[in-house]
Amino acid sequence: MIDTLNRIKEETRQNIDRAQDFETLTEIRVRILGRKGEITQVLRGLKELDPGQKVEVGRLANEVKDGLEQLIEDKQRQLKARQLELALQSERLDITLPGRPGKSGGQHPISQVNDQIRTIFTCLGFTVAEGPEVEMEYYNFEALNVPRDHPARDMQDTFYITRDMLLRTHTSPVQVRVMEKMAPQLPVKIIVPGRVYRKDDDATHSPMFHQVEGLLIDEHITFANLKAMLMLFARQIFGAEVKVRYRPSFFPFTEPSAEMDISCVNCGGEGCRVCGQTGWLEILGAGMVHPRVLEYGGYDAEKHTGFAFGMGIERIAMLKYQINDMRLLFDNDTRFLKQF
Ligand code: PHE
Repeated sequence: MIDTLNRIKEETRQNIDRAQDFETLTEIRVRILGRKGEITQVLRGLKELDPGQKVEVGRLANEVKDGLEQLIEDKQRQLKARQLELALQSERLDITLPGRPGKSGGQHPISQVNDQIRTIFTCLGFTVAEGPEVEMEYYNFEALNVPRDHPARDMQDTFYITRDMLLRTHTSPVQVRVMEKMAPQLPVKIIVPGRVYRKDDDATHSPMFHQVEGLLIDEHITFANLKAMLMLFARQIFGAEVKVRYRPSFFPFTEPSAEMDISCVNCGGEGCRVCGQTGWLEILGAGMVHPRVLEYGGYDAEKHTGFAFGMGIERIAMLKYQINDMRLLFDNDTRFLKQF
C-alpha cells in the first residue's frame, strides 16, 4: 500500500505539472482526492492491516493527500496569473488617441454690441446705471410726462401686471429714478442698458428686447453736445465714414425731440432695399430733457438742462451684422450664433 501511495503521488505530481487548464486540475482532484478517488480506495484497505501499519499508512496517505492538494492549489494560482497576463496583453487599450476638443462658447451678438456701447460711453465719462424690469406705472409714464390718454399707455402695447405695475416699455424710467437719488448733484451722466417689453412680435419686433438709455444733465448742456456725442458714437459703432442726420420727432419726455438716422450700412446712402431707397436708417430717439421731467427728478429746470437718448440694441446689431430677422437673435441656434 505504501508503494501504491508513492506511485499515486509521483504520477499525480507529474500530471499536475503538465496540466494546462483548470478543467484538467479539477478532473485530477476528483480522480485522486475525491470521495471515490484513488487515495480513498487505498484507505478502504486500511481495515485489513494491523494497528501499527494502520497508523503508518494512514499518516502517509494524509501526507500525500495534503501535499497533492497543495500542489493543485499552487498550480491553479499559476494558471490564473498566466491567464491575467494574456488578457492584459490582448486587451491592451490605446490611450494615445487624441481627445475630442470641447465646444467653446462665444459672446452673443447682443452682448457684443451692448459691451461696445458701454465702452464707448464709459470712455466719454458716463457711468452705468440700472433699474427694475417690473416697473411702476409712475416711472414708466407719469414721471416721464406721458399723459394718461397717450397711446403708449394702451393695453395693446404694454404688459400690465397690476393697474400701476407693468413691464417697463423702455429704459427711460431709470432717468427719473437716478435723478431722484442724485439731486441736486451735477452732472448726472449715465447710460442704462437693459431689457424692455412690448406687446409686439414680428421680423423686426420682439416682445422682449434690449435698449440703452443715455442721460446727461448739467449746466449749459445744449443740443450741440447731444449731436457731438452721438456723432462720435455712430462713428465708433458703424465706422468713420458713416453720416448722420436728425429728423424732428416727438417724445413726451424730451423737447425738442429728434430721431437720428445713419447713412445706410448697405448702400452707403445710394438707396437700396435695406433702407427702402431712402439712403438712411433710423437708429435712435433723442432730445433735450423736458423741464417737467427735470422737476419730477428734483432738478431746477431754470438752471439745469440735459439731453437724453434711447436706442434698441437688437436694431443696432441687425444693422451692424446685416441680420434680417430679429427672431434669429433669440432662437439660440448655434449655426447662426457661430458666425459672430
Ligand atoms: N424711450 C424712447 C423709446 O423707447 C427713446 C428715447 C429715449 C427718446 C430718450 C428720447 C429720449 O422709444
